Amino acid sequence: MPKAARRTFVLVTTPVALVALIGAAAPAATGSKGVGDPYFPLAGNGGYHVEHYDLTLGYDPGTRHLDGKAVLTARATQRLTRFDLDFKGLTVTGLTVGHAKAAFRRDGQELVVTPRRALSKGERFSVTVTYKGKPGPVKDPDGSLDGWIPTDDGAFVAGEPQGAMTWFPANNHPKDKSSYDFTITVPKGRTAVANGVLRSQRTTHGKTTFRWRQSEPMAAYLATATVGKFKVEQFTTRDGIRVYNAVDAREAAAAAPVLKKLPSVLEWESKLFGRYPFRAAGSIVDHAPNVGYALETQSRPVYDRAPDLSTLVHENAHQWFGDSVSLTSWKDIWLNEGFATYAEWLYAEQHGGDSAQKAFDDLYAKPASDELWEFPPGDPGSGGNIFGTPVYARGAMTLHVLRTTVGDRAFFGILRAWAGGHRDGHGTTAQFERLAEKVSGKKLDGLFKTWLYTPGKPNRP
Ligand code: TRP
Ligand code: ZN
Repeated sequence: MPKAARRTFVLVTTPVALVALIGAAAPAATGSKGVGDPYFPLAGNGGYHVEHYDLTLGYDPGTRHLDGKAVLTARATQRLTRFDLDFKGLTVTGLTVGHAKAAFRRDGQELVVTPRRALSKGERFSVTVTYKGKPGPVKDPDGSLDGWIPTDDGAFVAGEPQGAMTWFPANNHPKDKSSYDFTITVPKGRTAVANGVLRSQRTTHGKTTFRWRQSEPMAAYLATATVGKFKVEQFTTRDGIRVYNAVDAREAAAAAPVLKKLPSVLEWESKLFGRYPFRAAGSIVDHAPNVGYALETQSRPVYDRAPDLSTLVHENAHQWFGDSVSLTSWKDIWLNEGFATYAEWLYAEQHGGDSAQKAFDDLYAKPASDELWEFPPGDPGSGGNIFGTPVYARGAMTLHVLRTTVGDRAFFGILRAWAGGHRDGHGTTAQFERLAEKVSGKKLDGLFKTWLYTPGKPNRP
């Protein structure tokens, strides 16, 4: 090789080698822009855990303007020169990390934050974001709306799976759970209902401020700050649970007989699943005809209309299955919806309705071409399928097959061990399968493989 060529070779490779060296010496100190969810790759953020959200909101239903301030208390799980929050739409007017102003830029749903100095691994830090604008919902892969959904008298606020980021900056994935404080100011005559316990309510100068506290850990998608003209009812149950029901007058007559049953439904569910996981409970019955679903917002489900009794049973069953025991991946959604649906079947069975076996048989009779068999519930395939019929119905059928295989004693033992063992935490499908085998002493891999993961209509069990 001639000398000149060799020198060129050296000049070209040296910078490359240097970059490789630096890369090896100092691993990337930026938090990832997602937690690795296959269906929602941008959901959540890597590099930190949010311990607490302190949200201060002012909403004017007339102009639909929201003023917000979010103070997040977080802990770095790695060294961080930069990290992301999920936040979509609203205008950021200020951002500090600790007491220092931090640089930020927007990139789709990512709010990219560069603190003045790097955060060290394990460091506790606060992020304050002030923001404003007219919030609106996001459209999910299945076409439904979630997030901040304006109504004629306020807003229906429900964030599953993505919408939390439409009204506050968040680590927006159920993998990250946090406690929350809400301070929400609305015009006098309107009510702002969030999660947990109402700590105070004060009216001055034509405005009312509601302060709510959700003490037990909560995933961001389960947060609400629903605003409307509501009739309010408050009481404490025999078990000491603080109940707060807020009902739109237009739904009040239809809702009353169902809401009256809430204490007995919670008692029945507590007997079956173990003690109720939160200190607060209740219902938000809105009149939101454009929404089309209810959501198990933590401690207090939100309904788009007066719920029927099975919907009330369903959303409150989610307090154990989905809220207290959270998903680590949206792919596992049957752990939420299959269980809440099976709770409906059990409720009917024990209250003079159809047996769970009858519900199973009626579904099993559907032809192989029915949408029920379109995909297996343990592997929905995409974010657009997570609220599909197989997740709810075949998910519940899976639990019924489990019950008939292991017997009632073991089955209800499994449900209680699941809710109790993962309380205020997380659970995966694999962990559920292992628990079911451990409690029942039976080998169940064939059952789960067939009912959760195999496409098409399974053979009769
Ligand atoms: N998780 C809700 C329930 O079953 C339903 C739900 C929430 C939903 N968001 C949705 C259904 C979006 C369809 C589309 O209780
Ligand atoms: Zn549900």
